[in-house]
Amino acid sequence: MTAPLLVVQDLCRTYRSRGWMGRGFVTRAVDGVSFQVMPGETLGLVGESGSGKSTTGRLVMGLEEPDAGRVVFAGTDLTALSPAARKPFRRRMQIVFQDPYAALNPRMRVGDFVEEPLVVHGLGGGAAQRREEVAGLFRTVGLDPAFMRRFPHEFSGGQRQRIGIARAIALQPEFLVADEPITALDVSIQAQIVNLFQDLQERMGLALLFIAHDLSMVRYLCNRVAVMLKGRIVEAGPTEAVFNDARHPYTRALLSAVPIPDPLRERGRRRIVFDAGGYAFPPDAALREVGGGHLVLQGAST
Ligand SMILES: Nc1ncnc2c1ncn2[C@@H]1O[C@H](COP(=O)(O)OP(=O)(O)OP(=O)(O)O)[C@@H](O)[C@H]1O
Ligand SMILES: [Mg+2]
Repeated sequence: MTAPLLVVQDLCRTYRSRGWMGRGFVTRAVDGVSFQVMPGETLGLVGESGSGKSTTGRLVMGLEEPDAGRVVFAGTDLTALSPAARKPFRRRMQIVFQDPYAALNPRMRVGDFVEEPLVVHGLGGGAAQRREEVAGLFRTVGLDPAFMRRFPHEFSGGQRQRIGIARAIALQPEFLVADEPITALDVSIQAQIVNLFQDLQERMGLALLFIAHDLSMVRYLCNRVAVMLKGRIVEAGPTEAVFNDARHPYTRALLSAVPIPDPLRERGRRRIVFDAGGYAFPPDAALREVGGGHLVLQGAST
């Protein structure tokens, strides 16, 4: 049995905000989330806007501190480490963001942007050798190394996302969080970027936490999927088990919104409505296995 690369245990994060008339309120953005990612595996994290997907990604990356819970990477509890002790792990875990426009520095040549992590971590040898390395990274993500001297505004959205990915893989990480990396792109470009992720995984043995809205891409790319609702995972398991045999009403509603490519079956598709606002978790709800690693959030009596 191989050990998991990432173990997330009972992660919690609340935000305190001031609301209308200065009244304070608390958002439970992430509320007891647990999951594992094996080396080289892709876990898809899906759920409606505000369900806590990005917060989970930031907590895993250590960009934010949890209120409770643990993030264990390659056997080490990162939440127990000082920022200095965490530094070596920064190399091994990287993140790609949704908006390739915001992620890039507009005044920096894209080659320098991709090279920066190598410089910061003192890797890649001398300047000439580093340039070669960056050229190789450009080729890996499907960009002409001649583009290295250009600025971000000279690129399309899909190309900018490739640049962001090149930077993220510069340090040869074992694990990547991709937070909606294709949502901002044209539909025609989305599949190309998903294919790039798949290609990188095969080449580098990269494990991926793929946060997404588009369930058809998740089905295509991910080995396993976890569905989030209001800060909790309501269903998780092997992708085909969850897609073919969804148990939680929220998962069923999500799946019923996905068009079916077969026109005959598409005609018979019925959308299931789920009232997330009116939904309350059963007080004793826990993820319970319904077989083959397929977990569903259920009360003890259901
Ligand atoms: N820095 C913050 N301060 C206050 N509230 C926040 C903060 N970040 C997130 N939240 C709240 O936490 C909840 C979860 O947000 P999060 O961004 O993790 O959701 P998400 O699933 O990524 O949504 P989306 O699909 O829209 O990206 C939301 O209610 C959000 O408003
Ligand atoms: Mg988000």
